[in-house]
Amino acid sequence: MLSTLKELSICFEFSLKEILNQNNKINIYNEVSKNIITTSSREEFGDYQSSICLVLSKRLKKNPRDIALEFISFLTNNSKFSLLCEDIKIAGPGFLNIRIKKEILIEQLIFRQNCKRAGIPLTSNNNKIIVDFSSPNIAKEMHVGHLRSTIIGDSISRLFELRGYEVLRLNHVGDWGTQFGMLITHLKDVFPDFLNGANKINIGDLVEFYKISKQRFDNDSDFQNRSRSEVVKLQSGNEESISAWKLLCNQSREEFNVIYKLLNIKIEERGESFYNRFLRNIVEELSNKNLLTEDQGAKCVFLDEMKNKEGNALPLIVQKSDGGYNYATTDLAAIKYRLNEHPNGDNANKIIYVTDHGQANHFSAVFEVAKKANWIPHNCQVQHVPFGLVQGIDGKKLKTREGKTIRLKDLLKEAVKRAKEDLSNRLVSENRNESENFIEHTSNVIGIGAVKYADLSQNRITNYQFSFEKMLALNGNTAPYLLYTLVRISGINRKNNSRLETNDSKNISYEHDAEWNLIKKLLKFDEIILSIENDLMPNRLCNYLFELCQTFNRFYDKLPILKESKYKKLSRLILCALTEKTLKLSLGILGIETLERM
Ligand code: ARG
Repeated sequence: MLSTLKELSICFEFSLKEILNQNNKINIYNEVSKNIITTSSREEFGDYQSSICLVLSKRLKKNPRDIALEFISFLTNNSKFSLLCEDIKIAGPGFLNIRIKKEILIEQLIFRQNCKRAGIPLTSNNNKIIVDFSSPNIAKEMHVGHLRSTIIGDSISRLFELRGYEVLRLNHVGDWGTQFGMLITHLKDVFPDFLNGANKINIGDLVEFYKISKQRFDNDSDFQNRSRSEVVKLQSGNEESISAWKLLCNQSREEFNVIYKLLNIKIEERGESFYNRFLRNIVEELSNKNLLTEDQGAKCVFLDEMKNKEGNALPLIVQKSDGGYNYATTDLAAIKYRLNEHPNGDNANKIIYVTDHGQANHFSAVFEVAKKANWIPHNCQVQHVPFGLVQGIDGKKLKTREGKTIRLKDLLKEAVKRAKEDLSNRLVSENRNESENFIEHTSNVIGIGAVKYADLSQNRITNYQFSFEKMLALNGNTAPYLLYTLVRISGINRKNNSRLETNDSKNISYEHDAEWNLIKKLLKFDEIILSIENDLMPNRLCNYLFELCQTFNRFYDKLPILKESKYKKLSRLILCALTEKTLKLSLGILGIETLERM
């Protein structure tokens, strides 16, 4: 079954073709037919609206209201349209407002309640999408930027998975580079017998370890020399150096995994080191394609597409003057590997990179070079999905009260701790006695869910201010508010003893505004999901969910459900059930667990 919007679009497109043909203008069809019809911005205008007549008026040099009349005459002659539409009106300078027949809305409602994904269609192509997200750096702090990337990347992956795409979630961990020279040298100095007890050694605080190594590197020329030769040893595959490198990576990985476990994130690690073996070839190929220029010993690709303030083309360095490769070379190798079919690449159709917007220039340069080198096949796409900074409530960098940087583990634990305090207070005031297990589980779901939702509900492009108080509030656009709405519905389900019989739709009817408002909100779900698939803005799903819960709660506050007679009760229970399904699917996309009670 198609969504109403899709059906209406087909009717509109059909009429548009007729009108363009009559005016000998069919050549502009592709240009003008996009988003030919949308849901109404305001309920009083109807269910759907179209501004096509205003768009056409300039192109056909005709009065938009006259074009509107032509549209109406074509549309009302279309049997499909007449089946759906209760009323079509011209408004203002030439907008078309459409109201859908109530029985059609009820039909849609029941259809969605009966299908597993609440009417979200499966994709019709079998595209493979790589989402490159999280990607922290070994022996460095996994910071709030990585947290944002992790939460947003996970959610984007979940959205595509729900739509039926094959998704490869990749962790492009920073596990290679010259910094390993100093890290390994320092390791050998402080744990000279690291080879014997590789698994037993606990370096402890790796970030501290990194800092000390760096200090030594900056102040001690002997250490510096040893570090440099260590880089060479590592790159030539020296066994001892490789073991040391593995040890460092393993310990970092354990730290990262604590965070992934808390957040329930699935991701495949394929760090920068994986692409090391391709780097020499990448530079060679760029050279063979005459794309390289040498600039002060470094090999660069100059990009006319990207200019500095003085109007000169900017270079992307792919090999440093000391012969070393860099972050950009690795990303070029990754693009080639990921989009290529042969010999054992990923053969993906699309790569999505989720990082802060500070890397926007890096990615446009890398994409530009990859295009010039023909490493992006014509049916493939690469896309940077940028996000803003995470700030404290003062608008400055997020810090502890003592002014230190906050560790992610501590931040997540703090959210859970606060959720637990709120819950315990509520239990006392409601005179409830709950098991320790219940309290643990519930505060965990609320605390972690709140952190994720606070992040996802912000427009990702802007900076966002992190506030435990706001994200844990039971009222407002927060995870606890949405979870609470679900808990209300679970409560109804527990008390209800009748079966949800949706077969005889004749007996299902609605008469109150509170019901119709909820129905219309529910029916917008698929449109929201499909549009987010294009703009990758999860905050639009959050806004929708907030409105959906408000609409549901108004319905719940106003109208009895279980106390009603048989068919009225059934009709209202269907609304509860579809609200529940929509919320669960959506929270699933946001990576937020749900609760039966809280
Ligand atoms: N490790 C990088 C950082 O911490 C992010 C990597 C993003 N992915 C990529 N393919 N460049 O900034």
